[in-house]
Amino acid sequence: MIEILPSLLSADFARLDREINQVEAANVTMLHLDVMDGHFVPEISFGPPVVRSIRASTELHLDVHLMVAHPEQHLDAFIKAGANSISIHVEAPGHLHRSLRLIQSHGLKAGVVINPGTPVTALDALLDVVDYVLVMSVDPGYGGQQFIPRSLDKVMQLDRRRKEAGLNFAIEIDGGVTAKNIGAVVQAGCDWVVAGAAIFGNEDPAMAVIEMQKIARDATAIRV
Ligand code: DX5
Ligand code: ZN
Repeated sequence: MIEILPSLLSADFARLDREINQVEAANVTMLHLDVMDGHFVPEISFGPPVVRSIRASTELHLDVHLMVAHPEQHLDAFIKAGANSISIHVEAPGHLHRSLRLIQSHGLKAGVVINPGTPVTALDALLDVVDYVLVMSVDPGYGGQQFIPRSLDKVMQLDRRRKEAGLNFAIEIDGGVTAKNIGAVVQAGCDWVVAGAAIFGNEDPAMAVIEMQKIARDATAIRV
């Protein structure tokens, strides 16, 4: 089962409730929340108070993607705010193993993220610890960028690794996914597919999700 995760970064922040209702109508089960601190990436997005408000207005799984310079310092706040999964970049300083275990100790799923410039081998020591791996298919920081095709090789490598090692972490992809490339993304082995501009940049976000869900379903059928 492939999950499409609408990224609220491209939503209208003054009308989040309405935006969330629209994608709920397309039966999504997870939302992707991009936290940016102006240091790890140039932009600033939102923090725990906004996640807490979103938590109060929806039952959906909240997937928090931390693009912050010091993730360790913020884990407690996002756990308390009601996140269901939290991912941390391997490129950020800190003690990844301890952070992932801390997230899991509160009953959340813990993920690790790699930027386009980071090889899959950087995850070698973590694959048996994480619940999911997030492959960035654009350099993080902005919505609406162009998908980097080489990301598909990384997804395929990860899919191969998990099969060989008998692991069952999920593979998530984030950045530049549209109705045009989601078929290839799913065939490569992705389970969770994030999309921002392709959904909230569409005048009918629910229809955009439904179209992507259909293409993803067809691609799963021919996945090896
Ligand atoms: C980028 C963020 C993404 C972003 C994806 O730094 O991590 O989640 O919202 O947006 P699109 O799908 O528009 O590339
Ligand atoms: Zn993201």
